[in-house]
Amino acid sequence: MGLLSGKTALITGAARGIGKAIALKFAAEGANIAFTDLVIDENGEATAAEIAALGVQCKAYASNAANFEETATLVAQIKEDFGSIDILVNNAGITKDGLMMRMTEAQWDTVIGVNLKSAFNFIHACTPIMMRQKSGSIINMASIVGVHGNAGQANYAASKAGMIALAKSVAQELGSRGIRANAIAPGFIETAMTAALPEDVRKEWMKNIPLRRGGQPEDVANTALYLASDLSSYVSGQVIQVDGGMNM
Ligand code: NAI
Repeated sequence: MGLLSGKTALITGAARGIGKAIALKFAAEGANIAFTDLVIDENGEATAAEIAALGVQCKAYASNAANFEETATLVAQIKEDFGSIDILVNNAGITKDGLMMRMTEAQWDTVIGVNLKSAFNFIHACTPIMMRQKSGSIINMASIVGVHGNAGQANYAASKAGMIALAKSVAQELGSRGIRANAIAPGFIETAMTAALPEDVRKEWMKNIPLRRGGQPEDVANTALYLASDLSSYVSGQVIQVDGGMNM
């Protein structure tokens, strides 16, 4: 018996990176996996096959997490396909960095839409299902910059601070219905998102990490497993930093 046997997890933006690592970790613990990404191409199909090879039900869905109507329709479809939704991981996220003086309205709106509104969309669609089940675990993927702020990332940092406050608020509203909500705030994790950073910026980040290494997607997935499973059955409204002890 795995820690998540018989549960269904819905993970957004999981064709690659941290979301994929979470999907694989949950599947290894027995969860059936519904995951989304903007498009399900060869890479997404390969991720779905890798998850299904662990012996669980898995289906990949193309969806724009920032779209409210699309999300409502998608969640209804997933409920029909899987029968329940026990765990929701709001993982989809993007960056469009720039200093405040030069940040365009489009840069702001896109990042807030994909990173923060998406979580509202999925929580709004999933919580009626979780309330009927009288249980559920919601995990919002925030970031340490949502705790500390970061020059050049005002839009991203604000969206991630929003993810933390959203989780804390939902935890207060829906705790009496058996629903827990928490946030994970990763530091510097080695994925496509951070590979795109210039070498000097990467080196600067590394200097501030006491554990002297970048995090791996699996480091975040292990924390997500804790929050998704009954190991954390009395933990709600929290934000857990997974950052190697980083000093910002
Ligand atoms: P990634 O870029 O490798 O993966 C993000 C996934 O989200 C991609 O597959 C992308 O196609 C998908 N996505 C983007 N827009 C979407 C949309 N509108 N609808 C559905 N899917 C969409 O990024 P990574 O590093 O795996 O990040 C995952 C999450 O963790 C993000 O929310 C990110 O902000 C957060 N995070 C990452 C850190 C890092 O160091 N890599 C640090 C802190 C937080």
